[in-house]
Amino acid sequence: MQKLSPDNAVAQVPTHVAIIMDGNGRWAKARGLPRVAGHQRGAESVRKTVKACRELGIGYLTLYAFSSENWKRPAEEVGDLMQLLRVYLRKELNELHANNVRVQFIGDRARLAKDITELIEHAEGKTRANTGLCLIIAVNYGGQAEIVNACRRIAIMVKEGDLGLDEISEETVAANMETAGLPDPDLLIRTSGEQRLSNFLLWQSAYSELVFMDILWPDFSKKSLLEAIEEYQRRDRRYGATSG
Ligand code: FPP
Repeated sequence: MQKLSPDNAVAQVPTHVAIIMDGNGRWAKARGLPRVAGHQRGAESVRKTVKACRELGIGYLTLYAFSSENWKRPAEEVGDLMQLLRVYLRKELNELHANNVRVQFIGDRARLAKDITELIEHAEGKTRANTGLCLIIAVNYGGQAEIVNACRRIAIMVKEGDLGLDEISEETVAANMETAGLPDPDLLIRTSGEQRLSNFLLWQSAYSELVFMDILWPDFSKKSLLEAIEEYQRRDRRYGATSG
């Protein structure tokens, strides 16, 4: 947790905020627009949210941009989402870098187009030494697959005699997740009124405060983020212990 200036209404901000950005399609439909228009406005919300997180001194922001289940959408929509990711990385990288933002990706890159994996690698490489906000973008990400992959890696270590069975702990699993080295999310927000995790950060969200908001992602603003943080601050985080 980091402190803000005393005159700010928000006394403490979470170190790590994770967001399931939902409702782009409904936003577009309500306006008689194609779904891609909702995703475009959603990308604008991403830009604004990154700026708001920087201003609030949040350490880590993880965004669910494309789930491993999103391939089931029509090819045109998948193409639109991938194109938005390209445009975001091409247009925003210099500004992100200038603002000391470190960009990281989680998710299976094997199925992504080669130029996208190149953009991802370039963004990660260029911003690796930055010390400001860490922006983690989940693309072709699925929490269950991530846990399965961690199990496989651990099983290989055991099989090869590098790790004893009784040495496997929560720390071993965490260290073999794609998020190794990152703190777990303190606050997990989902927009659009749906109340489920949809395979996002299943392991890491064990003790996250979940805040479900009725707002659609394209309408999400700094004010919405502050509302979620205020809700988070009203929660009593006990991590399984009794309240003090
Ligand atoms: C959910 O809305 C949103 C997505 C599946 C994609 C999120 C992508 C963006 C916000 C834009 C690109 C991202 C970056 C990082 C530039 P939905 O389509 O499921 O909405 P619906 O439930 O109302 O149909």
